Amino acid sequence: MTVRLAHVSDLHLAAANSDWRGRDWFNKRVFTWMNLSVLGRGQRFARAEQVLVRLADELTQRNYDRVIFSGDATALGFDTELRRVAEILGVDSRPGLAVPGNHDYCTTGAARSGDFERHFAPWQQGTRIDDQIYPFAQQAGHVWLIAVNSAKGNRWFWDATGRTGNEQLERLGRLFQQLPPGPRILVTHYPICLEDGRPEGVVHGLRDLRETVAAAAAGGVSLWLHGHRHRFYCLPKPPLAPFPAVCAGSTTQVGLWSYGEYEIEGNQFRGLRRVFDVEANQFRDADRFELTLKGPQAPG
Ligand SMILES: [Fe+2]
Ligand SMILES: [Fe+2]
Repeated sequence: MTVRLAHVSDLHLAAANSDWRGRDWFNKRVFTWMNLSVLGRGQRFARAEQVLVRLADELTQRNYDRVIFSGDATALGFDTELRRVAEILGVDSRPGLAVPGNHDYCTTGAARSGDFERHFAPWQQGTRIDDQIYPFAQQAGHVWLIAVNSAKGNRWFWDATGRTGNEQLERLGRLFQQLPPGPRILVTHYPICLEDGRPEGVVHGLRDLRETVAAAAAGGVSLWLHGHRHRFYCLPKPPLAPFPAVCAGSTTQVGLWSYGEYEIEGNQFRGLRRVFDVEANQFRDADRFELTLKGPQAPG
């Protein structure tokens, strides 16, 4: 049996009519807004809605068993942004798995609000521990997809770090013990390392990376899928980890726009990067890569 997955990430959709409140002018949101507006970085996502609408057509036409979304749906973590992304992606009408990114938890209040989890609830169904939202596991054919939340609300504007946390890691260990055989693919927002194998910067990386990778390795994970970095890359042997990692990159950032199309047959993984062609207003085939999913739970 072949499982077909679409891997989408880092959409950074900015809603036109957002929900600014007085307190937002005194928290991290105003600095993130300045970064996007005053410094012009928001221009990188100026066509995000156009690309997302075309992506939704792709998701319908290319017959995927599941959509994997690895976080950063929004620019500023507003409820209106999350609602619009969930609406365009058709969260209610197709199977998927979603984890939040640091922009979705732009402030500590946004992280606590549960807005991301409410809008992506249909893509957060699965097997879980102690009724806690994270981690959770979904079965797609013979493959297990394990969602781990590595994002957290940060107080300071310069802080874009993530953390899995000891409590979630303890539940992750128990979740692994419950899962039947099959390749195990971990999905989270933060990467193991940069494209060249160097570690993430101290204000942009996963604080408990070593512990999270160790827990994944102990649980027989055979692949780590993530976003956060906006350029696509595949590392068959990243440092620290005994399994490969694939960064989807940003699906909507001008010039980098793409998503991953994956086929898993037994323990063979075939990847295809589909890039957005702005002239044709549609996606087209680009790079292909292959991996063998190893690990104690992989068949064959
Ligand atoms: Fe991002
Ligand atoms: Fe991010």
